[in-house]
Amino acid sequence: MSTNVTATGQGKLIVFGEHAVVYGRPAVACSLPTGARATLQRASRSRWLIEHPNGRIDADADILKAGNLLLEPFGLCADELDIRIEMSIPLGAGLGSSAAMAVAVARGAARLLDLNEADTEQRVSRAVVASESVFHGKASGIDQQAAMGSGFFTFHKSDSGPVAETLEVDAHRWVVARVAPSKSTAAMVQSVADRRERLPGLMESLFDDFALLSELGAQALTEGAWDVVGELMNINQGLLNAIGVSSPILEAACTAANRSGALGAKITGAGGGGCILALAQDDDDRLVDALGEYGDVFEFTLAGRNSTT
Ligand code: PMV
Repeated sequence: MSTNVTATGQGKLIVFGEHAVVYGRPAVACSLPTGARATLQRASRSRWLIEHPNGRIDADADILKAGNLLLEPFGLCADELDIRIEMSIPLGAGLGSSAAMAVAVARGAARLLDLNEADTEQRVSRAVVASESVFHGKASGIDQQAAMGSGFFTFHKSDSGPVAETLEVDAHRWVVARVAPSKSTAAMVQSVADRRERLPGLMESLFDDFALLSELGAQALTEGAWDVVGELMNINQGLLNAIGVSSPILEAACTAANRSGALGAKITGAGGGGCILALAQDDDDRLVDALGEYGDVFEFTLAGRNSTT
């Protein structure tokens, strides 16, 4: 049995269809080439340390709760482990940090037990679903899919479980800006559920529009029709505003991105705050400069299949 192991999980960007994916509609996402690296060590004294781009934190009550749910399928307990997680993406910004962490820790737990590959994937999946429920409430599972690393993919929930299909997409430049403090994903998902409760017909019709956008978006991505991808991202942002998850600052940042050469811009993730995603034109630095006025900027060249870090 191993005593000291490392493992990784990847962050994600949702390109089309967030929130509607919780209600069974398809979405399009991409795993980032970066995310979380966890080091697990058996120890007499338990410690969870998370280092991220803006500092370090010791685990809070939610993280410990998620951690114990995560370790349960492996018959392990947080009390017997020293866990250090290095994040290369910001926490709670809509980039899938919690799923990236969960996948890294769960894969590490499987390595500590020397599990075989088939057993590992099954238990990692079960563990991450349980731990993500702490942060997401009613989660669709799209973050978990991305955290396990599949490049661009379409995703929807079905009666028989999640369905993900890989998309072949040419490399392109994408820019992410963290423009506002993040809101809790669970709270944003709940706010959409509340609006759906009040306006069921209208919300279901908007979710259908998200579904159509995701289908058209997947097609445009695989065809490399970047102008169309950008246009659809702007329409997706209009729908996110309509379901109540945008804000004045998120709208202003999207407008600034489009005025500075982006082909399209939208919230990525649960919204309320957090990050926007802009589709860049190659070699145009105006976009990065404009979004730098709003907060930290991250640039990614993303392609169909990103390898695990
Ligand atoms: O984890 P976030 O903040 O990127 O949001 C996940 C996307 C949602 O569709 C809002 C929720 C979900 O579980 O699919």
